Amino acid sequence: MAAHGLRLAMLAGVAAALWAKGSGVTFSHDVAPVLYHHCATCHHAGAVAPFPLITYADAARRADLIAAVTANRYMPPWLPAAPRFAGERRLTDAEIALLARWAAAGAPEGDPAETPPAPHFPEGWSLGAPDLEAEIPSPFQVPAEGPDLYRCFSVRLPHHAQHYVRAIEIRPGDPKVVHHALLFQDVTGTARKRDAGSGYDCFGTPGFLPARGLGGWTPGSGAITMLPGIAETLYAEADLVIQVHYHPTGRPETDRTRLALYYTSEKPRRHLIDVGLTSNRIDIPPGARDFRVTDHFTLPVDVDLLGIIPHAHYIARDMLGYAVLPDGTRRTLIHIPDWNFNWQEQYRYSAPIRLPSGTRVEMEFTYDNSEANPRNPNHPPRRVIYGPASTDEMAGLHLQVAPARESELEELDQAIWGKMMRMLGGGVYRQPEK
Ligand code: HEC
Repeated sequence: MAAHGLRLAMLAGVAAALWAKGSGVTFSHDVAPVLYHHCATCHHAGAVAPFPLITYADAARRADLIAAVTANRYMPPWLPAAPRFAGERRLTDAEIALLARWAAAGAPEGDPAETPPAPHFPEGWSLGAPDLEAEIPSPFQVPAEGPDLYRCFSVRLPHHAQHYVRAIEIRPGDPKVVHHALLFQDVTGTARKRDAGSGYDCFGTPGFLPARGLGGWTPGSGAITMLPGIAETLYAEADLVIQVHYHPTGRPETDRTRLALYYTSEKPRRHLIDVGLTSNRIDIPPGARDFRVTDHFTLPVDVDLLGIIPHAHYIARDMLGYAVLPDGTRRTLIHIPDWNFNWQEQYRYSAPIRLPSGTRVEMEFTYDNSEANPRNPNHPPRRVIYGPASTDEMAGLHLQVAPARESELEELDQAIWGKMMRMLGGGVYRQPEK
């Protein structure tokens, strides 16, 4: 009994010593599961990241870099600091500490037999055979070098009937060059006029209004499924428009991004509406570090907030969206402390957020046009004004809401139109003179 207790105590002592040195952590047992779960979607052969993180050799030679980029939360790329979103790419503090201990211990491999099976990335559509499959009309050539490209492609649909869409999946043709893709429907015919066969340049917005967003793709995201009863309506006269962000890889690449739509015959019981907070009072002097724009809207009816889409260009720094409830409580809807135009996403809440009638939703964006902003494209900084070009800035925060009672849809719609008209009437959409 005593000997047994002594042995246990010795074992515990050895374990503690190993733990303290960090050498208890191995690739096979501890690190591989973290990499496979949080990194491999982008870090596998043929995916967007510049190298795979699958084998021991892949990871070991970059152990210190892995520790560094996870400690400062540069990887995995995930911009919002708050609140909780579905599909969040964030490591826990414990996972970050584990990667740091592993690197500090000299990246030990451990027993290869303990390594979990490498993740598998299926080629086909994740929800099975779609009702409609489409692709950009012709393969798009991405040059080896040069700036990132933002290209819109008009995709004509074979049918002329209205459909309710219950799910959407977008798949890049060549995931090495596709940074993200956004899907819109265009009922104005603009995109089909501008697209002469190989797309058209469309930095920022696709160039038409109203551009009803239908979701998007970023590395690692799968199919987008609508909530039950809230299908999207695809209008009979609509063209689909895909905006693709290409990041040259150093070699010429060819992409043909595809998409799949899944229909439902069930008529939506509730409708999604876009509450757009925006401002064009943007005229930022060179060197200004905290130029701020705001907008707000008071909800006339109870709504469920399902998702949120922030939009700005390069020098936006801090993006804040919040709600002030009728009882005065303040609730953060999104906070991105260090915006990066390279990672534009459409965020979806893990559960809908009920906002009662009388809630005031607020947008507050801050721009840093100084030399200290590492993403400022201008050296030295120059005056930046409102506009759609990459050298201009924008401010947009789109709240995807569904009225709690479908009977109040019209009232919400009217209020949103009223807001837009007031902006137009106030000349707010006029660009400052260059
Ligand atoms: C959503 C896609 C995505 C995920 C998930 C992701 N990465 Fe990356 N990673 C990239 C891209 C793209 C780059 C290259 C461009 C860049 O540095 O931003 C990169 C670059 C890196 C680099 C090189 C950084 C440098 O300074 O050269 C390291 C190291 C890295 N990733 C580690 C990780 C680790 C570890 C994880 C998981 C904990 C991870 N990444 C998850 C997309 C991703």
